[in-house]
Amino acid sequence: MELGDLRKSYRGDTEAFEEQHLASLDPIEQFRAWFQEALDCPDIGEVNAMCLATCTRDGKPSARMVLLKGFGQDGFRFFTNYESRKGKELDSNPFASLVFYWEPLCRQVRIEGSVKRLPEEESERYFHSRPKGNQIGALVSRQSSVIPDREYLRKKNAELEERYRDTPVPKPDYWGAYIVEPEVVEFWQGQSNRLHDRIVFRRLRDRAAPLGAMTHRAHGDWVYERFSP
Ligand SMILES: Cc1cc2nc3c(=O)[nH]c(=O)nc-3n(C[C@H](O)[C@H](O)[C@H](O)COP(=O)(O)O)c2cc1C
Repeated sequence: MELGDLRKSYRGDTEAFEEQHLASLDPIEQFRAWFQEALDCPDIGEVNAMCLATCTRDGKPSARMVLLKGFGQDGFRFFTNYESRKGKELDSNPFASLVFYWEPLCRQVRIEGSVKRLPEEESERYFHSRPKGNQIGALVSRQSSVIPDREYLRKKNAELEERYRDTPVPKPDYWGAYIVEPEVVEFWQGQSNRLHDRIVFRRLRDRAAPLGAMTHRAHGDWVYERFSP
């Protein structure tokens, strides 16, 4: 098979994403509307799976999937191991990019922003809300470190299950939440005629700054523009 010929025609029934469809001109509300439609779409397996890209201080990128565990006006939350590769990269370069792709809806959302750790209490609360097996999993895995073999994980898991059989699992210090505070949010809606829609919101802190003719004010300190696909 020639990968060069591998190309999907997007469904013809996708409604064009016109400016008047923007949910209250607020990128977070727009995300909420699309997220809900993705949740309602039976063909999407893991709606909250997103690609997280981070970068070393000297600009070498790395990307992986993580799960979105909450979002709001303050940003987009995920949980991970602070000592993992992504954790180390975020320590030295606290900026990240997130990408969602909801294939059956022909939609992509890109988010860029600065990243902070959330307070311990929030990580603690979420950690203990997870099934016990997942909590033990976080203890078993020193994420992104080299291990000898699978047996090593199995043994460690069995030991920890035994140790915490009747007691709560303590949250390890190295496990917790991050929040991506969005500076840019782009909504991409694929169209069958390749005239895809791209609506890009960005924060403009200076409300007095003059806007170009094709830049539009949106909710709060957001402005938006339509980009060529
Ligand atoms: C669908 C999916 C969801 C995942 N969710 C998470 C997550 O929420 N947190 C996490 O730390 N790793 C998650 N992982 C594992 C990561 O992709 C990755 O392997 C791990 O975090 C180590 O990444 P790093 O070495 O770049 O830090 C997920 C993987 C997949 C495929």
